[in-house]
Amino acid sequence: MKRDNFGSSFGVLVAMAGSAVGLGNLWRFPYLVGTNGGAAFIIIYLVIVFLLALPIMYAEFVVGRRSQSNVFGAFKKLAPGSSWGIIGVLAIICCIMVLSFYGVVGGWTIDYMIKAVMFKFTSDTAALDGMFAQTVTSSWQPLLFMLVFVGLSGFILLAGVKDGIEKYSKILMPLLFLTVVIIAVRSVTLPGAGAGIDFLFKPDFSKVTANTFLDALGQAFFSLSVGFGIIFTYASYVKREENVVKMSVQTAMADTLFAIIAGVAIMPAVFAFGISPGQGPGLVFVTLPYVFAQIPLGSILAILFFFVLFVAAITSSISLMEVVVAYIIEEFKIGRKAAVVVTTMIVLVLGVFCSLSQGLLSDVKIFGNNIFDLFDKTTANILMPVGALLIVLFAGWRMKRSDFIDEVTSGGMHKLNPAYMAIMIYSIKYVAPLVIGIIMLRSFI
Ligand code: PHE
Repeated sequence: MKRDNFGSSFGVLVAMAGSAVGLGNLWRFPYLVGTNGGAAFIIIYLVIVFLLALPIMYAEFVVGRRSQSNVFGAFKKLAPGSSWGIIGVLAIICCIMVLSFYGVVGGWTIDYMIKAVMFKFTSDTAALDGMFAQTVTSSWQPLLFMLVFVGLSGFILLAGVKDGIEKYSKILMPLLFLTVVIIAVRSVTLPGAGAGIDFLFKPDFSKVTANTFLDALGQAFFSLSVGFGIIFTYASYVKREENVVKMSVQTAMADTLFAIIAGVAIMPAVFAFGISPGQGPGLVFVTLPYVFAQIPLGSILAILFFFVLFVAAITSSISLMEVVVAYIIEEFKIGRKAAVVVTTMIVLVLGVFCSLSQGLLSDVKIFGNNIFDLFDKTTANILMPVGALLIVLFAGWRMKRSDFIDEVTSGGMHKLNPAYMAIMIYSIKYVAPLVIGIIMLRSFI
């Protein structure tokens, strides 16, 4: 069976950036920056991205592209008879679990996009709190919106890699950047916006603690979508001529740039109204609607913002789903359509539990967490780091050095600075495993 491929370098870049740019960039990065010393945090974050997250990305990219296969099947080709296929099993379980709660949040973004269009936001905070509570806890509404969100993700994947993922990313990603820039311009021109700019950029090294480094690490991995088998799966559709290092660096830069612009879009507006910024759902579904309700023409900004949130979420969702779809197509030898339907069904069933755990099933606690939080924590603290660890171990220790270099340079086609290559390999072999180990330890303590 002939495998589908990306059609252009730009297509690969927007697809990878589509996965990387997600809710994490919008609702977590700006807050982390502001509370960890502004520019000081941005510098630390960039160093971590370049010295650590990127080498892990190269490792995933190299193994994925070399295999020309899904995350599980890859190891039957690259390491026959070994147990490395466990990487694939973990990645697939991880993606399904993330999708189950990402789909729920994706549903909320659609719901809020509609609320924005219907001018539902007021400057009454109690009403906004109530609106959000109602949105997530009512029984059928969030289920319906989740169905629409996951269904749309599946719909895009039906058309395949080039005509689905690539085509939609090429339209949506530029639109996403443009829209967030428009919001940022409005935000910084509000009276009193300066406080938000200070919060984001004023360097304050006194706020940098050991936790700052750990937060930056966790955020960098999650934000670049490394350790989920996503880069791996996308890379398996990338042509041999493409430059691994260049594409990965561009993806990381696009992701970080977007996160910073998102900060500029959100924080100045929040500070202009004298609100203390938070993070997560509270920030985007309660605080921001309050802010939008007070800005002249804010209702248009609200529509734009929830569009941004929705696009950021859906391009991440399709990347997660494709990991599973590719696996089902190739390992069960069934067509793409059937594979997409099966994946959508599995995600919807689990998604129902995640969604209801916000309301009806909120009393069901496993290890002290509701189902939604359990999935979130298990994937972020266990599955993702273990996946990332195994993939760097595979690329650094199991794969032949000559094969690795051959793949990174596309068979010698792309010249890489030898010093950079040495640092990269050192990072993959020693530093990355050590640091991932530390992150895992932290989450257990
Ligand atoms: N990178 C996405 C973000 O920043 C999250 C994500 C993780 C998406 C893993 C897909 C897979 O929000």
